[in-house]
Amino acid sequence: MEWNRALRYKNLNEWSEEEKKHLLLQIENSPWRLHYHIQPESGLLNDPNGFSFFNDEWHLFYQNYPMGPVHGLKCWYHLSSKDLIHWKGKGLAILPDTEYDSHGCYSGSAIPVEDRLFIMYTGNVRDKNWNRFSYQLGAWMDKKGRISKLKTPLIAKQPENYTDHFRDPQIIRYHNSYYALIGAQTKQKEGNILVYQSKDLKNWEFNGPLELPLKNLGYMIECPNIVWVDQKPVLIFCPQGLDQNILHYQNIYPNTYLIGDTFDPEKNRFESKYLLHNLDEGFDIYATQAFNAPDGRTLAVSWIGLPEIDYPTDQYGWAHCLSLIKELKIQDGHLYQFPVKETESLRGRKIELDGVLTEQTQLILNQNETAYELEIILKGNGEGKLQLASDGHQALNLIFNFADGTLVLDRSHAGIPFAQQYGTSRTVQIPKNTPLNLHIFMDASVVEIFLNHGHDVLTSRLFPSKKQTKIFLETNHHLAYNGNYWSLHSIN
Ligand code: FRU
Repeated sequence: MEWNRALRYKNLNEWSEEEKKHLLLQIENSPWRLHYHIQPESGLLNDPNGFSFFNDEWHLFYQNYPMGPVHGLKCWYHLSSKDLIHWKGKGLAILPDTEYDSHGCYSGSAIPVEDRLFIMYTGNVRDKNWNRFSYQLGAWMDKKGRISKLKTPLIAKQPENYTDHFRDPQIIRYHNSYYALIGAQTKQKEGNILVYQSKDLKNWEFNGPLELPLKNLGYMIECPNIVWVDQKPVLIFCPQGLDQNILHYQNIYPNTYLIGDTFDPEKNRFESKYLLHNLDEGFDIYATQAFNAPDGRTLAVSWIGLPEIDYPTDQYGWAHCLSLIKELKIQDGHLYQFPVKETESLRGRKIELDGVLTEQTQLILNQNETAYELEIILKGNGEGKLQLASDGHQALNLIFNFADGTLVLDRSHAGIPFAQQYGTSRTVQIPKNTPLNLHIFMDASVVEIFLNHGHDVLTSRLFPSKKQTKIFLETNHHLAYNGNYWSLHSIN
């Protein structure tokens, strides 16, 4: 099927039951469906939205085009959970059905206010000539999960000197006022974050662009978030078209973070003596959304997928997934990310791993499973290789060199190739001649790899054959290993 504009924007009610059934059947027959990651029931999933805690439950929404694996008429799909692990799918919750969001209910956030959840999102509208209009819209969700949209936009137009690329409000409360940080583009095609202020959630005033210590943040900033992590403000955002001289990245668009020293939304100021970093060193992270949870943790969730790239599941009518829920911490001026403690509740059978390898020996794990957690500490010299999703030929390789202090994630022979124009390997620096802690969450067609307790993260999709279920560990020298393997339960 050719996904032209008319199809992508066809009214969702106009799809026949037959067409919907056909799509679901296609998905049912798909290899690579996930066991414990949030995946779309049908069609395309992208940004996480409205991540919040309300009415004794966690709430999470995601951008969803339900009719196919393409960016079409976007809706918000709603999920809720008691434990951040087992999510109850509640169906499509915000649909593009008004004059202010007719061409998509784009990304946004949510904040509990008294006994309701306030949702702020972007309405995407196109006219006959396909000119875009972006409205910042509001909605309330009550304790029964009923959502009612506000009749008129909270912010009806971007300020002078900004283009219609104006979206993804993050709403925060600060000093008895509400603020919205909104991704924007100047008419000179520079990415900016705009700060709006409101006392009553009805009247919103433009405070100005957020002043950052960095200039030239590409041509558009998507999905800005500010959260407090261990008392420091951290800005998480997606600067599209960021200059490689400012930060090296290989993905089509980067998802970055900047730790700050002070943040004052009243004065539009974010001060920082830190450097800009990639949030994830792998192949597939974008649009991360974070918030300060009432239990004191800073939680984040990412879209595992990227815009403008075809993925092998497209042929089965679905695309992409969300990451595990990660907790953020700062230690020694560095941001750490690690799956929340609750993730341990997925653990099933455990195998203890302990041994020493030389050039002649190999550790082989052949559990024939595609949902597992592997935590392993490696001490050695020379080079070593951990093969995940291996059948002896094809594998996702992690190559670590203790002497050089490098770790390479090589996806070039991991199964069905895709997105190769953005490179087939990613390299990170690791401390030289130091034991390496690898913590890996594998789930059918996605892997989240945490190095040294979350100092670095490499997230990657992979599309292996049915036979690629083994794990091999080997070295060209000497390697001691110690750790655990757990099979993980399914939530889907
Ligand atoms: C990021 C993004 C957002 C937008 C949404 C639309 O992936 O482009 O800027 O709100 O996706 O689905």
